[in-house]
Amino acid sequence: MNSVEPCDESLPVAPDPCTLVLFGATGDLTRRKLIPALYSLAVQELLPERFAIVAFARRDRDDASFREDLREAVRVFAPSLPADGETWERFARRVFYHRSTLDDPQGYRNLHTRLEALDREHGLNGSHLFYLATPPEQFAGIATHLGQAGLARPPQANGPWTRIVIEKPFGYDLESARALNRHLRSLFAEEQIYRIDHYLGKETVQNILVLRFANRLFELLWNHLYVDNVQITVAETLGVEGRGAYFDEAGILRDIVQNHALQILTLIAMEPPVSLDADAIRDEKVKALRSIRRFTPEEVARSAVRAQYTAGTIGGKPVPGYLEEEGVPADSRTETAAALRFWVDNWRWAGVPFYVRAGKRMSRRVTEVVLQLKDVPDVLFARMSCMDMTPNRLTLRIQPDEGVEILMSAKRPGPAIRVEPVAMRFAYSEEFGQSIPDAYERLLLNAMLGDASLFARDDEVETAWELLMPVLEGWKASPEPPHTYPVGTWGPGAADDLLRRDGRVWWVPMD
Ligand code: BG6
Repeated sequence: MNSVEPCDESLPVAPDPCTLVLFGATGDLTRRKLIPALYSLAVQELLPERFAIVAFARRDRDDASFREDLREAVRVFAPSLPADGETWERFARRVFYHRSTLDDPQGYRNLHTRLEALDREHGLNGSHLFYLATPPEQFAGIATHLGQAGLARPPQANGPWTRIVIEKPFGYDLESARALNRHLRSLFAEEQIYRIDHYLGKETVQNILVLRFANRLFELLWNHLYVDNVQITVAETLGVEGRGAYFDEAGILRDIVQNHALQILTLIAMEPPVSLDADAIRDEKVKALRSIRRFTPEEVARSAVRAQYTAGTIGGKPVPGYLEEEGVPADSRTETAAALRFWVDNWRWAGVPFYVRAGKRMSRRVTEVVLQLKDVPDVLFARMSCMDMTPNRLTLRIQPDEGVEILMSAKRPGPAIRVEPVAMRFAYSEEFGQSIPDAYERLLLNAMLGDASLFARDDEVETAWELLMPVLEGWKASPEPPHTYPVGTWGPGAADDLLRRDGRVWWVPMD
């Protein structure tokens, strides 16, 4: 028998004392996500006993006024948490404002001095987590300044630690991602670099591994013998939400597919890791990414669809088309939706297409994975034309209404044999009753705990870029404009054609 390892039932534990230095502290991500997540951790007593947040930003604020800004952010973005009383005061007292521009070397030297003072005064032990929630153009510069100010300390066996968290997007293409990796690694060791993909912090994304490797039932089916095709949908009803200029540079392929959608695909396709260690998991993920067939120019033309949304209505409200959005050039060819067919060329998945679609302003906000199983043999019930024989489907609903659904065939009660599809569902909300924590809570906690398993490694990010470069280049060079789709639909007809040519259809997400 294998030795039994202690259960991590006690997790999550509060991390060791440390200081979180937040760059981009007056930005949208901080207000919407990071502060609500940190405060929620504080409410659950998951932050270290001795802990400080140092907000590094340009605006004219001091500790007191910045703490008030944060209180407001909690009221707006985490209304269920108490934004006053002792819990809030305890949290707010640990927040400090450090005013500097991002490119002022003196600002970083002062930061160093301030961190030393905080370490001494509050017994913080000198461990630092630098969180870069800034526009991506700033990542390299901030890292350089941290290095010059002596804040990029190398890892040491038992001493205080230094880690750097990089928000997405990590690079604009393969070349820039490689350059950023090289730059970061010239200042920090790989084990100190935490690249965020917030989808990895989502409970339901983490559940993919549990579902696969804690159940014999699913793992038996998880291969080319039983799976006909895999469909991954990342659909949003939101448009570019005032980020027109950013989005027009990026497009949905960079914004969603290169990171969130490929992460999901990888977790579905990967082999079981030898352990739950960060590198064991990431080794398998990289192996899966490397197995994906590279796109040739012909394949791009055949199997990669891009489209832009046009004006229409969503929920009865008129919504402008992409080209009418603020910050978007009238002749933009940036895609707001994409649909692609991938092949994972390894023993497990040979011949099984993985269809991925992502889009803004689609019918519903839904992220889900469908594994469609092969048809039953063409005998018995399947032979009768009156039977409603739908192939079995396993649907993993990532969000919202998180859960799992198995679609199977059953006999409708009555004297005649009537076969009908029925669904068996597991819903997180019904089963566990509690609300699902935001992805950023888990990610911030893990970064403080030093668990990098939910963060992307350098080779993982580069392999994902490598895979999509032919698509980006093909689309750029193509004289064909993007297809279009009216807002509030599931995307362009060309995305349906992609599957129709293979004799398949996109499954409409379950209600
Ligand atoms: C971000 C993208 O990474 O993910 C946004 O930049 C997108 O454009 C967002 O809206 C979606 O995240 P979620 O968690 O709401 O699915």
